Formats: sequence, C-alpha cells, structure tokens
Amino acid sequence: MEPEQQRLLDRGLAAEGPIVVLTGAGISAESGIPTFRGEDGYWTVGSKNFHPTEMATQAAFRRMPEEVWRWYLYRRSVCRRADPNPAHHAIVQLERALGDRFLLLTQNVDGLHLRAGNTLERTYQIHGNIDYLRCGDAPESLQPVPLEIGEQWGKDSPFTEEARALLSCCEGGRLSRPHVLWFDEYYDEALFHFESSIHAAAQASLLIVIGTSGSTNLPMQVGTIVARRGAPMIVINRDPSPFSRMVEGSGSGWFAEGKAGDHLPPIVEYLAERA
Ligand code: OAD
Repeated sequence: MEPEQQRLLDRGLAAEGPIVVLTGAGISAESGIPTFRGEDGYWTVGSKNFHPTEMATQAAFRRMPEEVWRWYLYRRSVCRRADPNPAHHAIVQLERALGDRFLLLTQNVDGLHLRAGNTLERTYQIHGNIDYLRCGDAPESLQPVPLEIGEQWGKDSPFTEEARALLSCCEGGRLSRPHVLWFDEYYDEALFHFESSIHAAAQASLLIVIGTSGSTNLPMQVGTIVARRGAPMIVINRDPSPFSRMVEGSGSGWFAEGKAGDHLPPIVEYLAERA
C-alpha cells in the first residue's frame, strides 16, 4: 500500500464513528455466484426471456408467483452450493478486530457474510436474504422466517404441490413471498435498515465499498453522504463505477481496480493490526 493510502486508513481509525463496509454482488463473484447484471441472470418462461430486473418485482410475483419462486429457489440453490471466499473472510477478521466500531451493509441476499462469520447484529442485509420468506406485505406478516424446503433446485425443477405447501404461510395456505427487496418496492427501516444505514453514513469515519455497480438507491446515498463529508473512502471493484468516480481525484480516497480477493485482505490486515 502507498504511504498516502496508509495515511487515509490511519485517519479513518483515528476519527470517531463506525468503519462501514458496503458490499455488492462482486464480492461473491469469486465464490461462483453470478453477479446481478452479469450474463447468467436471464430466466426463461415459455418462449420469453426475463431479465432479473423484470423477475424481481411485485408485478411479476402477482402475475406468475410460481415462476418467481422457481427462479428464487434455483438462485438459492446456487448460493447454498457456494462457499465464502477470502474477501468474505477478511471482512469477518475486520469485524473481530473492530468490535462495535464495525458495520457491514450488504446488498447481497446470498447469506455468505453470515456464513463466513459476520454477526447479524452488525450486518444490515439491505436487500434481504434468499434463505427467508415472508407471509406478505402487511405489517403483521412482515417477520421473515427461514425457508424449510430442499436446497437442490435445477433450472427445470417443477413447482410441485409439495413445494407450494412448504412455501405457504399461516394465512389459509396463501403462497408466501421471498424475503428480498424488489425493484418496484421501497427501502424501509423495519426490514431493510434504511434510516440506520443513512445514519451510519453520516457518522462513518471510513467507508470501504466492494463489488457494486452503484445501480441502487440506498448504497448510492451512503456513498454520496460519505463523499460529501470528505471522510476516507476506498472503492474496490473490477470495473469503474459511480463509486470509483466519487473517490478519484478527491484526495480522501482511492479506487483499487481489480478483484476483491486481491485488494481487500491487505487493507484489512493493516486496519486490524492498528485497531
Ligand atoms: P451488479 O451485478 O450490478 O455489479 C457487480 C459489480 O461487481 C460490478 O461493478 C462488477 O464490475 C464488480 N465485480 C465483479 N466481480 C468482481 C470481483 N471479483 N471483485 C470486485 N468487483 C467485482 O451487482 P450489485 O451492484 O450488487 O438488488 O447490484 C445491486 C443490486 O442490484 C442487487 O443487490 C439487486 C439489484 O437490484 C435487488 O435485488 C434489490
């Protein structure tokens, strides 16, 4: 690491406030989970191909709930087969070193951060978790519960009566929904830690952004707030993104272009030794 980069990390450690890590699909790419906007995301129903931004909607769920569930069950089986990679493990090391100063905001629904060892208390899953379902959207049915259905789902696995029974909720056998935030829905505090994430951005002494294209609202707000405050910010990504543009030339951060598994461990090592 360059001396200037070390100085920024020292500044983050010395200031008050949480050290916040924000992750996206890129951190799980090295675990073999396709990124959200990569080529593997399409889903075929009959003769039509749907983009994930069409499948992951309330509108699609209302129109074809079983197809949306089949898509999620397939994606869940991909997530369950994957293991955390060195970048996930580095973030666990960082939480252990920082304790209550640590906060993780993840857009990933794959659960790999928690499986690697990050605590639920300090992990805000701001887009939900694919291993959970909810009865519906009414406030009284919001509590997410773990899925109790087999993990092996191929792209062609049929939606059986048994699957329907296992995914039905308390209210008269109505089909539950995946516990994920959809494109035609809004962030909130109760399920997705919206206000708490904004608050963390306003207080953060250092932000590390990893593997996200900056296509969603809350992560962009978090980055923008931290950048405006001039707090140190490190962006690790395979490609340039709106986040990399926030730090380039700012003097208060840097863009580490490349893989999370290459760039993150030395940064964590440096922070953990001095925490
Ligand atoms: P995207 O698929 O949009 O972006 C993944 C980013 O990771 C891209 O910028 C890649 O260049 C980068 N990347 C890929 N491999 C990498 C690696 N090994 N190391 C570092 N970077 C790598 O995924 P997200 O930004 O997470 O939300 O997408 C955000 C949200 O879009 C998802 O959570 C999903 C979708 O809307 C919802 O479903 C609500």
